[in-house]
Amino acid sequence: MSAPSSVMTSSVASVNDAPIGIFDSGVGGLTVARAVIDQLPHEQILYVGDTARGPYGPRSLAEVRQFALEIMDGLVARGVKMIVIACNTVSAVALEVVQKHAKVPVVGVILPGAEAAVRASKSKRIGVIGTVGTIASNAYANAIRLCDPQASVTGQACPLFVPLAEEGWTDHAATELIAKEYLFPLKLHKIDTLVLGCTHYPILRSVIQEVVGAGVTLVDSGEATAQVVADLLDEKGLRNMSSARANVQFFVSDIPHKFAEVGERFLGERLGRVRRAEGAF
Ligand code: DGL
Repeated sequence: MSAPSSVMTSSVASVNDAPIGIFDSGVGGLTVARAVIDQLPHEQILYVGDTARGPYGPRSLAEVRQFALEIMDGLVARGVKMIVIACNTVSAVALEVVQKHAKVPVVGVILPGAEAAVRASKSKRIGVIGTVGTIASNAYANAIRLCDPQASVTGQACPLFVPLAEEGWTDHAATELIAKEYLFPLKLHKIDTLVLGCTHYPILRSVIQEVVGAGVTLVDSGEATAQVVADLLDEKGLRNMSSARANVQFFVSDIPHKFAEVGERFLGERLGRVRRAEGAF
């Protein structure tokens, strides 16, 4: 998916003024973009949602890696100064390969979420929910144990949460029923912390909290990632020094109007113009 060349040819004075590229399989990464925009309101954002090929959760590792590399190439070609992989599934299976090939720093959502979970947990009994791909990869469990070898991690794939979040069924009996079914095994493990290891799950936060109980701390990987992005910009001297509120551009590989409609719930505000990118990634 190639964005129109006019997008990035605007007068970019220095690398600090260049946008941060944020990408996901579709709308979900907007929850991560929200956190980045809130923490870094002066950063230009170029968001790519691969709506033609998402969701990525049920796809093979090889496919997800290939898509991630294609999008990374597109973002780098458009001059982004940093890439945020705002998709847990991609971060779980393709972070290293993207980091190896990108010419800019790349941040995924797994390690920031894992670190935040270890900080939050007292009992060291941590649950992780995510897509089939994320849970099968064991990426969160590995990252959590890297931070704390004593931690006990229980993973649970919750694939139906993705369409439920996109449908906006945040307060629906069917969602509650499905949440009880998915989350019951985690309750048996007596977790005190639960990582929302999928971009869509913050949308269902209240029903998840209700089912697991008030004593369980929910960790939003997106929020933890935004802090890591801010720290990395400072470390690399890449912060945008402008005091103006930045511009956010949205590109998708298919059906921009649907992305704008559903995306409003994920971003928490109207998206404005969403463009369909031309060509292949
Ligand atoms: N963005 C994906 C994730 O965070 C969820 C949607 C999908 O399966 O692509 O894993």
